[in-house]
Amino acid sequence: MAIGTGRGKIIFFGEHFVVYGCKAIGFGLEKKIIVEVKKTAQPEIGFSADKNCKRAVNFFKSLVKKQNFTINIKSSEIPPASGLGSSAAFNVAAIRALSEEFGLGLENMQINNLAFEAEKIFHGTPSGIDNILATFGGAAVFQKKTGNNLIKPLRIKTPLHLVMADSGITGQTLIMVNKVRALKEKNEKIFSNILATEAMIVNLAVQAVKKGDLQKLGSLMNINHGLLNAIGVSHIECEKIISICRENGALGAKISGGGGGGFCAALMENKKSALALAKILKKQCRCFYALIPSV
Ligand code: PMV
Repeated sequence: MAIGTGRGKIIFFGEHFVVYGCKAIGFGLEKKIIVEVKKTAQPEIGFSADKNCKRAVNFFKSLVKKQNFTINIKSSEIPPASGLGSSAAFNVAAIRALSEEFGLGLENMQINNLAFEAEKIFHGTPSGIDNILATFGGAAVFQKKTGNNLIKPLRIKTPLHLVMADSGITGQTLIMVNKVRALKEKNEKIFSNILATEAMIVNLAVQAVKKGDLQKLGSLMNINHGLLNAIGVSHIECEKIISICRENGALGAKISGGGGGGFCAALMENKKSALALAKILKKQCRCFYALIPSV
């Protein structure tokens, strides 16, 4: 029997636009999924697996030359369909556990690449950022490129105090990514202008993170959210949460991840103001404080 772990993630800037070549900034979370794999005579999935999970298990079987195993989610701190990268965390955890149980000796980069293949089962055309963060954690600037993706560790001058708040609406990433594609196809010129603006925002956000300019970062988050709204991936419940965050001291607030619901991210000045906001939000929704340490 072997266990594997995969981390959740926060996309700070660039979600959706990353699918079309824009840079994105993401952080690995402490929150994780732990999966247990055991060689058996008969195959068995020990959790209520949906269609995608079952298809992923078929993919996992191909990695171990069709040998049988049981696969169980031992614990999960990452709610599904909420923009925190649960499917990538599951795929990474499962592949790590399989590697251990079947002696595949996979290195992290191989685990990441295989998790990317498994992500295609869940999301069709994933950018690759979720599996990177689920495998390696940390803070990174990511850009999808033909050939090798750009993955750069990001230096963080001042710790970032985030509050992550759940809109309570489950957003399906695949549906949202397809919705954006349909919008893009009908409005190519407008979309390419929005994409260029987002590219500028992400570059400025990288500089602001490096300088520890929290005010600038917050205002860039707000502008970024406006663009996400423009491409149709927000939700009325996200808008309500974002308003509460902004009215209660957030320097900036936006959806994070696939959208259509899911978690929103608010940037706060310090831990004290973050915990105060979390206390207010807890009356309305599930939320948690996330510290992104300086590196
Ligand atoms: O909703 P999540 O946690 O799967 O994040 C999706 C991020 C997108 O940019 C919308 C898609 C992608 O593949 O990068």
